[in-house]
Formats: sequence, C-alpha cells, structure tokens
Amino acid sequence: MQRIYMDANATTPLLPAVLDAMRPFWIEHFGNASSIHQQGQYARGAVEQARFTIARLLHCLNSEIVFTSGGTESDNLALFGTLLAEPSAAKPHLITTGIEHHAVLHAAHALEERGVEVTILPCTPDGIILPATLQAALRPNTRLVSIIFANNETGTIQPIPELAAIAHHAGALFHTDAVQAAGKLPLDLSPEGPLKYVDLLSISGHKMYAPQGTGILFVRRNVRLTPLFHGGTHERQRRAGTENVPGIVGLGKAAELAQQWLAEDAPTDGPTHLAALRDRLEQGILAAVPDSGVNGAGTLRGSNTTNIYFDHVEAEALVIALDLKGLSVSGGSACQSGAAEPSHVLTAMGLSPARARASVRFSLSRLTTQAEVDAALAIIPTAVARLRELSPAYRKPATASA
Ligand SMILES: Cc1ncc(COP(=O)(O)O)c(C=O)c1O
Repeated sequence: MQRIYMDANATTPLLPAVLDAMRPFWIEHFGNASSIHQQGQYARGAVEQARFTIARLLHCLNSEIVFTSGGTESDNLALFGTLLAEPSAAKPHLITTGIEHHAVLHAAHALEERGVEVTILPCTPDGIILPATLQAALRPNTRLVSIIFANNETGTIQPIPELAAIAHHAGALFHTDAVQAAGKLPLDLSPEGPLKYVDLLSISGHKMYAPQGTGILFVRRNVRLTPLFHGGTHERQRRAGTENVPGIVGLGKAAELAQQWLAEDAPTDGPTHLAALRDRLEQGILAAVPDSGVNGAGTLRGSNTTNIYFDHVEAEALVIALDLKGLSVSGGSACQSGAAEPSHVLTAMGLSPARARASVRFSLSRLTTQAEVDAALAIIPTAVARLRELSPAYRKPATASA
C-alpha cells in the first residue's frame, strides 16, 4: 500500500539533497570541528558554512546562531538561559501563553518552581494572542515574553512583530518558538526588519526537512544567556558539547532549500501551491463530512496545516482508522497514563473537551501531491461515517427529504 503522509508538523521527510550533503561528514570528513588538524578544520569549515547559510535565511549575524539538539533544547535554553542569567533582587517575571508547545509550557512550570513568576496569557477563540492582552500583563520585573510564532496544532500565526515591540518597549526580552514557522514563512531578524524586536528564536531541523536531533537558537547580539550545559567553549560558550557536524551540514542544506522555496512562493498573488493543496483538502472534507469544522479558521494560518473537528468521533480512533487505510495524521490530544487528554491548545481556544478530543490535525509537506490529497479525500468521509455509526451519541443531520 502506498502510504500518504500528512503529519509534517510532527516531522518532515529528510530530503535526499539534505542526506547527500550530510553523508560525507559521517565517513570521509568525520573530524571533530574543534580539532586543529586538517580533518578538524574541514569539519569546522562545514559548520561555519552552514551557519552562514542559516544566518542568510534569518537575516542575522553568523555569531547570533547557536546550534542545539532541536526545538526543545532551543526553547529551554531561551527560557532558562535568560531568566536565570542575572541574579536580581526582584523575582524575574516570565509571560507566556496557554497555546505554547510543552517545550515552553513545561519549562515555564519548572522555572516557576525555581522562583520565577509566571503569567500564562489567554488567547481568542481563533487562537490569537491580542497585543492588548500582553500589554496588560507586563510588570516592572517582566524579564522575558515567550510567544509561539505558528502553532503546531492549528497553524495559527501570531502578530509577532507587534507583540515583540510591546515587550521591547517595556524593557523585556522577547522569545518566539518559530519551530513551525521556519522555512514556511519569511523570518527577517535584521535590525531594520519586521522581527527586529525578537531577541531569541527557536528552530528545529526536523520540521524543515533536516534530520531529527538538530536545531538552532537565534540569540540577538548583546543578549546575556547562561548555558544549560557546562563543558567546552563551543558555540561561543552558549552550548557546550562537540557539534553534530553532519546534522549541522543537513540544517545548512535545508536552509538553502527553504530560501529557494520562499523566493518561489513570494511573488504569487493567490495561495501558494501548498496552501492551495491544504485548502483543497480542507474544503473537500467540510463538503463531504457533516458536523465537521476547522479550528482557528478565522485567522491567518500557516499554509500547510488544518485542524478539523469531527463531532462524535474520537480523534484517536479516527487516527487509527486512517492509519489502517494508509493515511498518517495526528490527533490533537496527548495520551497520558492511558487516558486521552484533550489538547491544551484547543481547550485554551475555548473548545469543549469533547470537541477537542474529536479534532484531528492534517499537516502537509512540500512533497505532498494533489493525487495524495484526492486519495485522502476518498478515505476520510467513509472512515468518519463508520466511526459515527458506532457512536450512540451521534444523530445524522436531517436531510431536506427526511
Ligand atoms: C512548536 C514546537 N515547538 C517545539 C517543538 C519541539 O521540537 P523538537 O522535536 O525538535 O524537540 C515542536 C515539535 O513538535 C513544535 O512543534
């Protein structure tokens, strides 16, 4: 069975061009980038070339890029690294939101246990953090504001330039988890660019066609950061540990490809190819499946993601039914101690636990084809109808003739 992959927000396929770029760095060019001999220097050159390509994608300085092991580490380094950087008389205050990835939310809770004051901002029903909500939460001791760029579950895009400006003018640092934005949206961190007030920004390699276990934290010049790991002086003393040279080379290649794609996407008046496919999938599902709808439909969303509720269907059951038909998607809920918890993102948006548990995320990749979207559309309505037949709570909507 030819499988259809619609779970790109969980991980993207590794592109053959990325693998080809990485391969020599496991075999012939295996040197440690800190060694002073020629083999080490060859590896160092490759790391610095990748740093340069990534800095070009982000419109920042090479020295502002810190390589990490992924989005989780980048988020933790941003939060712990700034909040624990300078001892101060007043407890530092962190503002974040209820729609963050757990890499930020759980880090915030861990910091709270270490004495940091934490405020969790609410969002609108479409999943947006309003600038006025942030403004009202600022305090004299607010040291860091951390707000996700594009949501991993719904694709909702936050007004980051505006939010970052508010934090900046209040004297606080601003971090954004851009794991689901990098490679999909232009990110201009230059001192004149729209993201000029963003101080820290997290990226994960495996959400942008590079390998799992790779990541980046952008740290703006002059931002003081205390490292999470102690050891060597790697990454300008911000991240000790021998660099993952093949992974970093892969990230560099992925950044080069992302730059090309963004340039191709930019001049279009209508939706990009990916957005057109996503819209085709979304509209096809809504037309064929009664009692379904898009979560976060009323706002700007990343072009590859749609999160759809199917009332009276357990998302877990639907994910399994679709998997058996060869379609990989994801439920919004996290399975904890055997019980499906409704997604914290969807419940923060005001969905009832039942509707949140009935929601499924479809996330397309650059490799998704129209034929795959049409094949998915042939599978999804039948799978939903079968599950609803088993649901005593579900009543078919009355038709005109009934
Ligand atoms: C928004 C967001 N932040 C952080 C992460 C964690 O990234 P990683 O898997 O590289 O640790 C993810 C992964 O799903 C994510 O979607």
